[in-house]
Amino acid sequence: MSTRNACAVFAILFSANAAFAASAHPAPRLGTPMTAEDATKWDLSIFPDGRGLPPGKGVAKDGKVIFDTQCASCHGDGGRGATAEELVSIEPQSLKEEAASKAIGPYWPYATTVFDFIRRSMPAGAPGSLSADELYAVTAYLLAANKVIGDTDEMNAKSLPAVKMPNRDGFEWVGVKK
Ligand code: HEC
Repeated sequence: MSTRNACAVFAILFSANAAFAASAHPAPRLGTPMTAEDATKWDLSIFPDGRGLPPGKGVAKDGKVIFDTQCASCHGDGGRGATAEELVSIEPQSLKEEAASKAIGPYWPYATTVFDFIRRSMPAGAPGSLSADELYAVTAYLLAANKVIGDTDEMNAKSLPAVKMPNRDGFEWVGVKK
């Protein structure tokens, strides 16, 4: 084999090998950089003091319509529980009881968590589908049904964090500075 031919054979083998290497070990596809706009879809946390709440407002009357059509099928009439959790309880409760209710009124320490939870995960089949006004309204409905706020109280980014949940001081914050 002449040197020239040997070079040609080598070139063929080399390129075949390179093609094989490329197919067996494709370059890592690590995705595209996340933009600040993409990040806002995931940046959903709302803090007890209201940081993270969007603009908007709602009252219980409008929230009841949303609850009846989009939530009651799982959470029961008036939020009294069905296949999914009871969300409403107005019986006096102590966390010290063996079967303490986990409904929003007697159990949840912060009202802002209601908005946060619903926004990120409810209704179970279509999380993220409610507008800010609808979220404030359904939150107002659940707080009013639990007798934590009045039936006509408007919930918005200012009034919601100001709601004091009945059992806020019933928890022991082990290792957490209040
Ligand atoms: C298809 C059934 C379904 C629908 C519809 C639904 N939920 Fe839920 N929901 C669940 C289930 C199951 C859980 C418990 C699982 C979990 O905590 O993620 C839950 C949990 C919750 C919780 C937290 C309860 C707790 O004590 O931890 C809240 C608040 C809530 N849902 C509100 C709503 C609201 C408001 C709507 C309507 C906009 C709604 N859900 C619609 C099934 C549903």
